[in-house]
Amino acid sequence: MANQTLLVNALTIDATGTEQNHQALFIREGKITWRGHQDDLPYEISTERFDCRGALVTPGLIDCHTHLVYAGSRANEYRKRLNGMSYQVIAQQGGGILSSVEQLRLASEEELFTQSLPRIQSMVAQGVTTVEIKSGYGLNLKNELKMLAVAKRLGECTGIRVVKTFLGAHAVPEEFLNRAADYVDYLCSEMLPAIDEAKAADVVDVFSESIGFSLSQTEQIFQCARALDLPIKCHAEQLSNIGASALAASYGALSCDHLEHLDDAGIKAMAEAGTVAVLLPGAFYFLNETKKPPIERMRAAGVGMAIATDCNPGSSPTTSLPLMMSMACRFFSLTIPEAIAGVTTQAARALGLQQTIGTLDVGMHADIVCWSSIFDSADLCYQFGNRLPHKTMIAGQWQTDRNFN
Ligand code: NIG
Ligand code: FE
Repeated sequence: MANQTLLVNALTIDATGTEQNHQALFIREGKITWRGHQDDLPYEISTERFDCRGALVTPGLIDCHTHLVYAGSRANEYRKRLNGMSYQVIAQQGGGILSSVEQLRLASEEELFTQSLPRIQSMVAQGVTTVEIKSGYGLNLKNELKMLAVAKRLGECTGIRVVKTFLGAHAVPEEFLNRAADYVDYLCSEMLPAIDEAKAADVVDVFSESIGFSLSQTEQIFQCARALDLPIKCHAEQLSNIGASALAASYGALSCDHLEHLDDAGIKAMAEAGTVAVLLPGAFYFLNETKKPPIERMRAAGVGMAIATDCNPGSSPTTSLPLMMSMACRFFSLTIPEAIAGVTTQAARALGLQQTIGTLDVGMHADIVCWSSIFDSADLCYQFGNRLPHKTMIAGQWQTDRNFN
């Protein structure tokens, strides 16, 4: 019968990291409708079996923080940074995010799509089935809409789920130089309402930082988002602590991201609000940071931790979520189950999608990855940077059929 698949002989892992052998999953009309030990399969389920041969099966990976729609490159800045210039100094001299803004504004929508497509394709090839994509290199209505339109199109053409985030508050554009307050007013009174009217974004994000937006500007944007009923996220405490995470948590933020400089007040606020901490080890590595997010204290406080690529041209030019899992284990001391939860259940929470994706539970969308050569869940982090052969299903449809048999 069409629209149904039965996976057998799968190795799965539960929320505590316990591995379960000989698991079966029955998928019907795009959803998981049965899951358990294959010996317990009800007799009514009789369809052609897909034998996983004891290999690992996980929920589709979720990359919950990316800026993958961008134009051009910032390899020239990489050279400067290798020679000792900091990310902050480059930004203050008009490079950094603003150099990507310049390149993006010059690119047509078609060029932007063509340049961004290989990045999303590379993610899909590595087991990603949902990706969050931020705007934030347009910084005016026309170009922010252009970015979000490309994000939407990338989802349509690859079949991957895309969550679109409006990050108009990524930097102050040149035309508002030294007039950040005016830019925030423009963002709140014109850009955000128009973006909302066009239903172009699902979430609103702010880069709240000494080189980004101040706490009061951040709050002004959160109030606007709340008035439009849009969920929020925040780039918080990446380079310094300004209390952005506690503020974001007080507005019920889905997530606070980066968090190298997070303090106890922020941890407490995030724990109370159920705000997820999104760890971005790629940016930590690429910016040569030494201060790590307070993992042990977040763990003790019960703050959920997700992991993402932060794919962007300035601080994390990577598309590999499995590599980020490995880095999160090595740099930030996450356990293997935490790393797997970080790109599945916790990443789904960071996008507010935990009711529909991120686990292999009955009733969830059938977004599933079969890791054909992995027979120990630790291997997902251990084989760092390798592109592992797999078969990926989104909403019950196989996406790839690579090297499985
Ligand atoms: O998440 N921190 C702000 N935004 C990005 C960097 C963007 C860029 O440098 O282009 C980040 O690291
Ligand atoms: Fe980011």
